[in-house]
Amino acid sequence: MKTLIILSVLFLAGCFDSSDAQAKEVKEVEVKEVESVTLGKAVFDKNCVSCHGKEARGTTKNWKKTLPNGKYPAPPLNGKAHAWHHSPKLLLSTINNGGKKLGGWMPEFEDKLSEQEKQALLDYLHSLWPKNIQKKYDMRFK
Ligand code: HEC
Repeated sequence: MKTLIILSVLFLAGCFDSSDAQAKEVKEVEVKEVESVTLGKAVFDKNCVSCHGKEARGTTKNWKKTLPNGKYPAPPLNGKAHAWHHSPKLLLSTINNGGKKLGGWMPEFEDKLSEQEKQALLDYLHSLWPKNIQKKYDMRFK
């Protein structure tokens, strides 16, 4: 019986240890994500906000309606339009190549931003989406 108790105590202690380590790991990942989101917001506000609007809300009421010049306005990227239907790879490709291939007019950012800044942009946009959309996105693409 005594051994059983000792074993259980050891077992429990082991559990606490590993969950502490796990919690620490989760925390480190969260800190990294928060830092990336902060960088992403700064990069966005410098390079993207003029077209995609504050917090990527868009700049027109209806992003599906063409502008007087016949072009489509930049869509919201905050979960209200289609961005969250697209894989990180596709979003990255739009950031790199702009809209030319899609018949659009978004400029390309391939050589203007570092890979870290581009990843940070994706993390920032993800952070703007409603929680249920984030969850759906992560299940599909992460
Ligand atoms: C000069 C205006 C302009 C700027 C600056 C701009 N965009 Fe765009 N963006 C657009 C337009 C317009 C579209 C729609 C496609 C098109 O017409 O080229 C678009 C589309 C996108 C899409 C695709 C959305 C989807 O539904 O998949 C993403 C992602 C995106 N932009 C991200 C960015 C990011 C990130 C930046 C900053 C690094 C940025 N854009 C800067 C105008 C702009």
